Formats: sequence, C-alpha cells, structure tokens
Amino acid sequence: MELFIDTAEIEEIKSLNVTGLIDGVTTNPSLIAKSGRNILETIEEICNEVSGPVSAEVTATDFDNMILEGRKLSSIAQNVAIKVPLTFDGLRACKVFSDDGIMVNVTLCFSSAQALLAAKAGASFISPFIGRLDDIGSNGLNLISEITEIYSIYDFDTKVLAASIRSVQDIIDSAKMGADVATIPPKFLKAMYNHPLTDKGLADFLADWKKTGQTIL
Ligand code: E4P
Repeated sequence: MELFIDTAEIEEIKSLNVTGLIDGVTTNPSLIAKSGRNILETIEEICNEVSGPVSAEVTATDFDNMILEGRKLSSIAQNVAIKVPLTFDGLRACKVFSDDGIMVNVTLCFSSAQALLAAKAGASFISPFIGRLDDIGSNGLNLISEITEIYSIYDFDTKVLAASIRSVQDIIDSAKMGADVATIPPKFLKAMYNHPLTDKGLADFLADWKKTGQTIL
C-alpha cells in the first residue's frame, strides 16, 4: 500500500520524507488555507521535496476554468496530480487531462457510482472520503470495499486512494479492503509507528545492555 501525506505544511512533509516512506502528498483548498501560504509556491516546494504524485486542487467549478487552473497547476512540475471534484464538470475535466497524459485525482467521492464514472473518465486516483461518510452515520469502509471490488472486476487502472482518514485503524482497514493508497494526516503516520510495548521493550533492553559495560562502536 502506498502512503501519501495529507498536508500542505512543507516543514512537516520534509521531516517525514526523510523516512523514505512517503509515496506522495495530497492537498486541498482547506489545507492550503490552513498553511496561510500561496498555493503555487507551496505546490512547487512540495514537488521539489517529494518525487511521487502531489495533488493540487482546482477551485473553479466550471469546466473551462477547471481546465485553465488545472493546466497552470500542472505546469508547476511533472509530478502534480490535478485534483478535481466529482461533479459533471469535474469528470469532463478529468477526461481531458487524462487524455493529455496528466495525472488526475478525482476527489469528494461518496458513492461507488461516482467512482465508476471517475474510472471511466481516466482518473489516476479516486478519493473516497471515508471519515466524512462515517461522520454522517454511513460506512466509509464499505465504500472502499465496493470500489475495489468493482475496479478489479473491470480491471480499471484507477487507484483507490482512501481519504478523510480519522484513525490508524482506518488505514489498516482500508489496506485490508484493498485500497491502493491511503492519504493520512501527519499525526497518524507518527501514531502508526508508536507503540508503548516497543518503548518499554527498548528501555528494558538498554537497561540490560548498560549492565554489560559493552559498546558496539
Ligand atoms: C484528501 O485528499 C482529502 O482532501 C482529505 O483527506 C480530506 O480529509 P478531511 O475529511 O479530514 O478534511
């Protein structure tokens, strides 16, 4: 499973990218707003740091302006994936970009019918928002499961990108459902490697080691 980081904070991305475990980055207008920075500069800096796909979202809602915005974002770097919303105009724009060989991440997906259309429009990624479905009492993981099943029957190339992650368990469950990618807020990547028994075990090993008086170097 690929792991993307869901943030527009460049320093946070840099600090996690040293692990070599970050396969890409997703941003959205809310994350750009939270960073307080210019979108074009931010996306350029992220693309210089991370070689995998970096999603940059259009803010226009009509086809013509989505195309103009998408082309501008795409001109920043080869690894920009244009993010378009799952609307009629967004699907039209997706088809145009994907026909031009540009990566597209179709976002704000809340049903398998929407995901089927995104795949037919040539999306590189479909982003089902599992947390936001759970928030309204629906079941986000069921959606991941339905989409992966449909995509595998028809052998679509579109990758299922589990988004709107609310816990480490969401990441594990998405992996079990066959999601190709999870985009995760930085705090959950840290939560993935932290475990109290790891900390305790390490402290015990080091205490015993100290008694030996040895050093390796
Ligand atoms: C990623 O592409 C999405 O924009 C993001 O995961 C949304 O997460 P949220 O529902 O926590 O805002």
